[in-house]
Amino acid sequence: MPFTIAIDGPAASGKGTIARALAARFGFGHLDTGLLYRAVGARGGDPVRAARNLTPDDLGRPGLRSAEAGQAASRVAAIPEVRAALVEFQRRFAAGEPGAILDGRDIGTVICPDADVKLFVIADDLTRARRRAAELGADEGEMLAQLRERDARDSARATAPLRPAGDAVTLDTTALSIDEAVDAAVAAVEQAMAARG
Ligand code: DC
Repeated sequence: MPFTIAIDGPAASGKGTIARALAARFGFGHLDTGLLYRAVGARGGDPVRAARNLTPDDLGRPGLRSAEAGQAASRVAAIPEVRAALVEFQRRFAAGEPGAILDGRDIGTVICPDADVKLFVIADDLTRARRRAAELGADEGEMLAQLRERDARDSARATAPLRPAGDAVTLDTTALSIDEAVDAAVAAVEQAMAARG
């Protein structure tokens, strides 16, 4: 049985950084599921059609990491048919041996409800805005407004809203360095591995 790690949380909380570090550490595959929604938003046209016909090329399009692509992703992600079209791909990825890490908003609640480890990564709004502004070379105030708008939409939608699974471990990265955050995540994973035997 593959080992599955689900990492959810709001934008710029540090979940992507943690997911990449865990993938390198344990030799697991990593799927940034936000990229799927970003690719659907960036295709334009009918988002349901785009989600059903997503290709590897779509995931390599330039500009997918921009703040605008994040907003477009958040909007198409509220459409139930878009989400439904992406479920199977994500679950197939999660079944990869020896293990897989998926990060997003609904991994622990909807995509992999039986994941071996579920982390819900958070950080305060200002810290997240500062991180995203530094990463994109953008204005901090603008990033703050965009993150809040996106989080509000992602949390309020009817289908698979952003929320922690009942059995998720919350990891607040506000006051942590990257190394400290990764160490805390590694400890949670090692504990679950030991429990599984
Ligand atoms: O993780 P990200 O910032 O790249 O995600 C972009 C948007 O995609 C996010 O605002 C909401 C949506 N998303 C989602 O609804 N479910 C996921 N599992 C991942 C992302």
